[in-house]
Amino acid sequence: MCKESIKFKMFLVRSGLLALCLVVAARAAAVSDYETAKAELEEYIRNKRKDIDPRFRPLYHVAPPVGWMNDPNGFSYHKGEFHLFYQFYPYDSVWGPMHWGHVTSRDLVNWEQRPTALLPEREQCFSGGAITQGDQLVLMYTAHAGSDVEPFFNETQYLAFSDDAMNFHKYEGNPVIARAPNGSPDFRDPKVWKHGDDYYSAIGSKTWNDRGLVLLYKSKDLKDWEFLSVIAESNGEEGYMWECPDFFELDGKFVLLISPQGMEEQGDRYKNTNQNGYIIGSFSYDTNQFVPEVGFQEIDFGHDFYAAQTVEANGKRYISAWFNMWGVPHHEAVDGWAGMLTIPRELRLVNNRVTMNPVEELVSLRDGVVVDGDVRPDAVLEFGKAVELIIESDLNQKVDIMLDGREGGNSAWLRWDPEVRKVVVDRGSGDVRQVEWAPVGSKTWRVFLDASSVELFCGDGEVVLSSRVHPLGGWRLTNQSPQTIQLKAYNLRRSVPE
Ligand code: FRU
Repeated sequence: MCKESIKFKMFLVRSGLLALCLVVAARAAAVSDYETAKAELEEYIRNKRKDIDPRFRPLYHVAPPVGWMNDPNGFSYHKGEFHLFYQFYPYDSVWGPMHWGHVTSRDLVNWEQRPTALLPEREQCFSGGAITQGDQLVLMYTAHAGSDVEPFFNETQYLAFSDDAMNFHKYEGNPVIARAPNGSPDFRDPKVWKHGDDYYSAIGSKTWNDRGLVLLYKSKDLKDWEFLSVIAESNGEEGYMWECPDFFELDGKFVLLISPQGMEEQGDRYKNTNQNGYIIGSFSYDTNQFVPEVGFQEIDFGHDFYAAQTVEANGKRYISAWFNMWGVPHHEAVDGWAGMLTIPRELRLVNNRVTMNPVEELVSLRDGVVVDGDVRPDAVLEFGKAVELIIESDLNQKVDIMLDGREGGNSAWLRWDPEVRKVVVDRGSGDVRQVEWAPVGSKTWRVFLDASSVELFCGDGEVVLSSRVHPLGGWRLTNQSPQTIQLKAYNLRRSVPE
């Protein structure tokens, strides 16, 4: 070989090596920038926490340490621990560039705050799921990026990996799914699960004529995804976009859980800005076809319940939801934080309906019985900020229980009218949610009150209403019913960070 050509080859090798070094160095710089940003964020959160007004802060519901929270994300059970992430904007108590906050728990009751799991870079980290792969916990989420051309945003699916379920590294091969089959820019909120040896993902999207739908994908390794089928599509009256899908087997049927945007109000139904509900049907992993059997039903009938996500662990299916709603005032925002998650509930399928009951472990919050006995008409009782009420009443007569603050603030009424057989949560000034209730067994009401929330579970969980209410100075209960009710009330202890 001539000298010149050897020289040329050496030049090529050298410049190749140089290019490689530059790429590695750039990547290392980007990684260390990201790590620095993470460390600075934790420092910011630590300092900012001191400025928060605690008056409405929950004692046993997950809430952001500071700033804004929306959807629960990545609800998963990994190495004996529950992981719950959430849409998080630390720098203000309004929605902003999305991060993933992170809490963990061994029992779904006692929660520990973990470092922020994902920070936005060029992309915002929108909702998604999490799954164990080997020793790792893997997050699958939507990268939402703005664009200069119409439709001015773009949504693709990303992965992030963690060896310790605490520090997450975005995958270098992102995106793992670059576009929806029909090219719709609305393509988000991947739920991920494993069946047999394969991973599956359900992703929310829409048709070009504005019908919400859910897409099903399959992968051997979480990186290469194959589009399988449309699990279901709106019939034209079920919203223009389906967000935050979940898809799972429950008591022998399949449940498609969705958060539709844009459903029209119909009487008592669909009164919230967006809905959260489910379709029951049959599904086969051989054909990938879902056959709906029972049409869309709301899962919770209160004012504030959205973007719910489930996890299966120890043979049970648990759910958690954003305990707020889009497009309504978030009263605690003036205090430096906004949003929380509902108490985790266990799901069952009973008479073509998904029932929700507080997870059993929540009884461990009970910290002494404060009332046990008759409460006569017009009787007034006072409690702390966190209370569980067990209420027995005669459902042939009216029930009317006023809950307000010992020092003012907002109030709510829990009502039952035997004429129309409806359970009502009324926040005053016509801000009412109500639903028919035909008890399948128990006629008891179980009510969870926290510093700024009411969760009413009727009977065996066939009707549940979750609403944010902001009383001041602890709760006060007035029995405005024409009947004496039986009440057992427990004080509840703190189980989340302040
Ligand atoms: C639902 C939702 C998701 C999206 C996220 C953004 O509340 O709109 O579809 O991923 O919130 O924060």
